[in-house]
Amino acid sequence: MTRHLLRDDDLTPAEQAEILDLAIELKKDRWANKALAGPQTVAVIFDKSSTRTRVSFAVGIADLGGSPLIISTANSQLGGKETPSDTARVLERQVAAIVWRTYAQSGLEEMAAGTRVPVVNALSDDFHPCQLLADLLTIREHKGDLKGLTLTFFGDGQSNMAHSYALAGVTAGMHVRIASPADYAPRADVVEAADRRAAETGGSITLLTDPVEAAAGADVVVTDTWVSMGKEEEKLARIRDLGDYKVTPETMTLADSAAVFIHCLPADRGYEVDSEVIDGPQSVVWDEAENRLHAQKALLVWLLGKKDA
Ligand code: CP
Ligand code: NVA
Repeated sequence: MTRHLLRDDDLTPAEQAEILDLAIELKKDRWANKALAGPQTVAVIFDKSSTRTRVSFAVGIADLGGSPLIISTANSQLGGKETPSDTARVLERQVAAIVWRTYAQSGLEEMAAGTRVPVVNALSDDFHPCQLLADLLTIREHKGDLKGLTLTFFGDGQSNMAHSYALAGVTAGMHVRIASPADYAPRADVVEAADRRAAETGGSITLLTDPVEAAAGADVVVTDTWVSMGKEEEKLARIRDLGDYKVTPETMTLADSAAVFIHCLPADRGYEVDSEVIDGPQSVVWDEAENRLHAQKALLVWLLGKKDA
């Protein structure tokens, strides 16, 4: 059966662990797995800007023996002129998988419902599940077993990253704290989905408004831009509203002494995080950025394996 990754809880806890195990294997020898030999093509479509996602999918698909086809919506028929499902019906006869960075989650759902090839969410307004696979891989490399770790996200709790930490974190059995002003708390349906998943794994999701309480004893400290793509007009209000949630050297002293700092990047230095933290000894952001490559290769191999089953 064709599987898709549209949101983090599309993967069961066992499936998430399987993909992370595979990523660790693939990272040991980048060119050993040729799952896309042929070469088979993977379409990677961007409605929004990208550096890491574009590079890591292009390089990863090539590593697997495949051919990446990078498409900008601005010069394709998708994005107003043709529906996601009609686009998918055209692409599926020629490509092995479709990777799409877009705005509305509903577009991804429509694309996936209309095709027999795997569809991967490469960031939507609601979720960024590929980033979370890389982040969990990075945390596992630096902190060992994910189960039972406490991860605190600071900032915009309604962002794609906060939602993905909520879902993917509890799927891994982590205790996820989201620290944000009440007006920026995660969406209720996402919190409910995280709660349901946490009941299976022993993880938890906690919403906090006090950044000091949220930082206390955390094993993983996380933040993301206060101004996600599509929110540029709210920039000034967001800087005002989210200022207390900046990750500073003091935040790191409140966290566990062995805590790591992660950030999906790009970072607005001086806003959501101080340079002393992102450039400091606890930061693992460059490993995290590299792990996009290994995690997404594992995801593609796993998805293609399911399709053939
Ligand atoms: N973290 C991330 O997705 O980066 P890009 O926007 O550069 O792809
Ligand atoms: N929350 C950010 C993530 C960028 C990778 C955004 O959506 O712009």
